[in-house]
Amino acid sequence: MTAIKACLFDLDGVIVDTAVYHYKAWKQLANSLGFDFTEHQNEQLKGVSRVRSLELILGWGGVTKIADEQHELATLKNTWYVEMISKMTPAEILPGAKAYLEECRAAGLKIALGSASKNSPLILERTGLTSHFDAVIDGNSVTKAKPDPEVFLKGAEALGVQPNECVVFEDAVAGIAAAIAGGMKSVGIGSPELLGDADVVVTGLDKMTVGMLNTL
Ligand code: BG6
Ligand code: MG
Repeated sequence: MTAIKACLFDLDGVIVDTAVYHYKAWKQLANSLGFDFTEHQNEQLKGVSRVRSLELILGWGGVTKIADEQHELATLKNTWYVEMISKMTPAEILPGAKAYLEECRAAGLKIALGSASKNSPLILERTGLTSHFDAVIDGNSVTKAKPDPEVFLKGAEALGVQPNECVVFEDAVAGIAAAIAGGMKSVGIGSPELLGDADVVVTGLDKMTVGMLNTL
């Protein structure tokens, strides 16, 4: 068994609960176009890129838009979203997340962010977590969205470790698939029904210990 040397963390839904802000902003956009979508449908947007999320939402509303209009709509949604996340505070870090990042660092593990979000730097800054990461790979530095493993492979490279020395923490099905495709171990954050492909599933980082990584 190869020893784990690095932890790669997704951001939205693992470190912070920004899903609620994404939902509010997308809902506002859908409503402005004359339709609505449910929280259940919103689950399908987790871990999915901004462009793909818009395509899915327009599909649910039966609305067709040309490329230029799609770009404008995605920008509008992001303006609303950024307004919301600009007010975030460290109190919005999910339970146990900061303590777990500190436990990993104290154990000598390297730490990278592996997120689809182009807003990751702002979220890390608002929550005071920037210095907790040795590398940040996000929507600004990848060309292929999860389930493609690019974001995590770039994270491993930035940390100077091999993929099989990494464990990925993810709340999205596409994120666990990306970890597996990259040849990495994975910890699902959420429900076992949804994230059953992960090596282990916990409800949050407050349920994790560094010791558990040796059992993956
Ligand atoms: C992911 C979220 O982390 O980032 C998705 O789970 C989101 O819901 C995606 O669409 C892209 O985020 P952003 O901030 O670049 O629009
Ligand atoms: Mg996520």
